[in-house]
Amino acid sequence: MPRKVPPEIRQEMERLVRELNYHCYRYYVLDSPVISDEEYDRLFLRLKKLEEEYGFVLPDSPTRRVGAPPLDKFEKVRHTEPMLSLDNAFSHEDVREFDARVRRFLGTDEEIEYTVEPKYDGLAIELTYREGILLRASTRGDGYVGEDVTQNIRTIRSVPLKIEGVGEVPEEIDIRGEVYMDIEEFEALNREREQKGEPLFANPRNAAAGSVRQLDPSITASRRLHLACYGVGSVKGVAFRSQWEFIGWLGKARFPVPAIVRLAQGIDRVIAVIKEIEEARQGFPFETDGAVVKVNDFELQRALGVKTREPRWAVAYKFPAHQGTTRIREIIPSVGRTGVITPVAVLEPVRIGGVTVSRSTLHNWDEIERKDIRVGDTVVVERAGDVIPHVVMVIKEKRTGRERPPAVPDKCPVCGARVVREEGEVAFRCVGINCPAQVQERIRHFASRAAMDIEGLGEKNVELLYSRGLIRHFVDIYRLKKEDLLELPRFAEKSAQNLIDAVQRSKKTTLARFLYALGILHVGEYAAKLLARHFRGLEDLYNVSPDRIAGIKQMGEKIARSVSDFFSDPENIRTLETLKSLGLEISNPDFEGGRKKGRPLEGLTFVITGTLPRPRREVEAMIEDLGGHVSSAVSRSTDCLIVGESPGSKLEKARSLGVRTISYGELLDMVGKGRSST
Ligand code: IVH
Repeated sequence: MPRKVPPEIRQEMERLVRELNYHCYRYYVLDSPVISDEEYDRLFLRLKKLEEEYGFVLPDSPTRRVGAPPLDKFEKVRHTEPMLSLDNAFSHEDVREFDARVRRFLGTDEEIEYTVEPKYDGLAIELTYREGILLRASTRGDGYVGEDVTQNIRTIRSVPLKIEGVGEVPEEIDIRGEVYMDIEEFEALNREREQKGEPLFANPRNAAAGSVRQLDPSITASRRLHLACYGVGSVKGVAFRSQWEFIGWLGKARFPVPAIVRLAQGIDRVIAVIKEIEEARQGFPFETDGAVVKVNDFELQRALGVKTREPRWAVAYKFPAHQGTTRIREIIPSVGRTGVITPVAVLEPVRIGGVTVSRSTLHNWDEIERKDIRVGDTVVVERAGDVIPHVVMVIKEKRTGRERPPAVPDKCPVCGARVVREEGEVAFRCVGINCPAQVQERIRHFASRAAMDIEGLGEKNVELLYSRGLIRHFVDIYRLKKEDLLELPRFAEKSAQNLIDAVQRSKKTTLARFLYALGILHVGEYAAKLLARHFRGLEDLYNVSPDRIAGIKQMGEKIARSVSDFFSDPENIRTLETLKSLGLEISNPDFEGGRKKGRPLEGLTFVITGTLPRPRREVEAMIEDLGGHVSSAVSRSTDCLIVGESPGSKLEKARSLGVRTISYGELLDMVGKGRSST
């Protein structure tokens, strides 16, 4: 039986609850605790003891956060004011159009005042407070009716159980916000699930939603969830005049608010803040997929009203996406120029960051096994910059049971030759010396932009010329005749002439380009450039020893052996001599011949992220010119990351690897072109 609570005990309980809630706010919202964990626990235990002794628990007691029994189902909750969705804007232009619409609707030429804040990628929640006490928490549902998840939301420590810290407490208020999970927590959760053999969450949003929509609150309690409040629904007893004023009130009332909220006068400022958020998001511990722009004045918001489901007074600007979800239709083996067979996923086309993606590399069969990728699977695909899209993970919840692991090829899908897997290698390789796939890939590589740069010799034309027997080796490119081309279906007078001209032009080339074009195993653009710096001409490489090459700084054993093998093969030397006799002229502007130019960046590897004040190509050329090397991805061997405006995920990667980051200005300083050094 509950005992009657003596007034002094009730007072002590009230004090303990007040103090504990305040310390919870210091810890979970402000991230700046003022007492130790032990002290907190001591107060908590004292409260718990009194509650048990007197059989009485205050409505805002922190002990109510945990221990609620599991439910059978969620009750339905009707929202007093519907929870709307947002119109999307995919470009700055779209945002300007939104502003134009707002002004047209209001019939004004004056600048509008907006607020701009990050768009949280989680689960929308409504918190209802009556007389300042948390009464209910509900999901958005269909916008009109959601589910009662009060027990679960209570377990989130940053959710205030009572409105405190403000003078006026509204009679009743619906506060809206997003429940989300930090990236680190999401990754830890998935690691744990993987170990237990449980299905993984595709992204932090699904993890947050899955954690809130749990019938057992102890599961929600075990996930570290956060809240950011950004909106108000129905309210009685207090009047707010603007979003800015409301956010200020929320902060005072100890609610967690978005990491950035800015007041922006006019659309130019709005776009500046959007850029600021896009830049800042790299440092956020959570995922943001955009910024929400809202007309600040509530009076104007009311005047603008609602379309069907979206308000006219707000818009969500979406940052260019890097990931998308789609289904694998097929997994096909693709044969590269060195015979390596790569599994490629044929996808249901999906738009990611403004580009349609319909294929994605799966790297190798070990990777397929590791990620348990099957034909028919729904997968998360990521594309970063110009890199070939890759499959991040499988969404196993979407499996129907009909998904099948792809077969490992036992013979080359193109020429039927044997397939081998060398000791210690993950790749399968076709051993067919005349495998058409390999030959065509070699020709295409030879003609590609960074190699001989022959426009018009892409995949399709190479296939055509190969199938007609006009080109069986890249040497044959220089034997092409216009008359032969004119007999082919894809060529007319002009296109044939263009190709012949392009072939002609490519005859004057540099040693670096030519070495790269040859497609020597392991020799990429950079290694080719290094070789060109150290060898005056092609002939200087004939019969070169592996040691001589390995002696060049940054050249590994593998490359050295491969280059030496290539130039020791009489067949290869004959090919090179044939090319020369067909009119190839190779110059070598990269050759250093022992003379040391001023090369302040010698041996340094740079990566660039974001927009620089000068075109990227120009910056890259300058770095290479001064002895440095530009790579596309950050790794441990990166010396410097040059950070421009709106940097990408490379910045985070660099930070996590402890790679030095510099600005464009600092780069100029390094090479003696900076302002401080002129
Ligand atoms: S305001 C009518 N502000 O985005 C305006 N929503 O696509 C209602 N969201 O359902 C929302 N961050 O779940 C607003 N700073 C933010 C937001 C935000 C995330 C979510 C919210 C909403 C969805 C609409």
